[in-house]
Amino acid sequence: MSFDIDKIRADFPILQQTVYGKPLVYLDNGATTQKPNIVIDRISDFYRTTNANVHRGVHFLSDKSTQEYESSRDFVAQFLNASSSKEIIFTKGATDSINLIADAFTQSILKKGDQIIVSALEHHANLVPWQIACQKTGAELKIIPINEKGELIQSEFENLLSDKVKIFSIAHVSNSLGTINPVKEMIAKAHQFNIPVLLDASQSVQHIEVDVQDLDCEFLAFSGHKIYAPTGIGALYGKTEWLEKLPPYQSGGDMIDQVSYISSTYAEIPLKFEAGTNNYVGAIALAEALKYVQNIGLKNIANYESELLNYATQKLNEIEALKIIGTADKKASALSFIIDKIHNYDLGMILDKMGIAVRTGHHCTQPLMNKLGINGTVRASFAIYNTKEEVDKLTNALLKAQQMFS
Ligand code: ALA
Repeated sequence: MSFDIDKIRADFPILQQTVYGKPLVYLDNGATTQKPNIVIDRISDFYRTTNANVHRGVHFLSDKSTQEYESSRDFVAQFLNASSSKEIIFTKGATDSINLIADAFTQSILKKGDQIIVSALEHHANLVPWQIACQKTGAELKIIPINEKGELIQSEFENLLSDKVKIFSIAHVSNSLGTINPVKEMIAKAHQFNIPVLLDASQSVQHIEVDVQDLDCEFLAFSGHKIYAPTGIGALYGKTEWLEKLPPYQSGGDMIDQVSYISSTYAEIPLKFEAGTNNYVGAIALAEALKYVQNIGLKNIANYESELLNYATQKLNEIEALKIIGTADKKASALSFIIDKIHNYDLGMILDKMGIAVRTGHHCTQPLMNKLGINGTVRASFAIYNTKEEVDKLTNALLKAQQMFS
């Protein structure tokens, strides 16, 4: 399919509205994306026609529901190019997926003296779970530093690699700065020391092609709501041999094989990691959203969004007092900036009154903001439905805001 921006915009009903009498310009896609009709309809159709709990009933609806849930898992596997559907665990989102792995490593692998590598760019969701893992086990957290452009310093990363490192967990794309990390090369380097790698793909799966076999990561986490699916659903990919050896994260119904009053055995993967009634409707809607993305084509999306980001970078750079934070050679979607003498929060409030939605503040990356010596940024983050006209509106609104403060 070719990239038909008018058709894509028409697929998203929320974009058709005005706020404060101005057409909505939604540039907060790093926080969450809007949903196309096809996803919204899938949810309501499912509740109207099919709903029943999965893996539990012998009746018609339960069987249909289970089939749709499991074929959604097949689709997620295909989307990520996993070698098997059992390598896909449905979770609440990327945070839940990362917590699952951090908890499983805490229970079964990490001990005093071990090390964990993360980077200076991480979202709190890929930092705090590892801090807790260190507190519980006595392991130590090592941080890959960044250069002035917001890129990871590769020589520093290489210096951190050793047999002591038991896991390396890294964002594919930085949510604050938009930096695309060279993860394929970094994974290969980590593997030279037999270090398993968890990729936080929360800000990449919706913007660039992600192939878990090509990247060769052991684990990958992403959230549905950032890729046009509902909130409360996401996935964890894990290589079979790893998922089989890790212990369960949560326990209860659906994750068991045999239960006595004294002890239990667990289900095979992936169900071992899906305790309780999972968000099966969310999973089905997630597959619908991924089909939507796949239909447009990730190459088309990457090309379109990259052109948009370049255009926005050029336009914003024309504003004299504006400084772009994060100027990596390879970036996706996010454009963070500050304007001299205007607090990012005030700027966000003014943009809002002009119908423009952006995120302001630390973007759940407080250590990174501290490192950069700023209290936060304004972040415009793009999705498939944004346009150059919207970038022009953002630029004009920033110029007006500047006048108001001068
Ligand atoms: N992690 C999301 C963001 O970057 C919420 O805005």
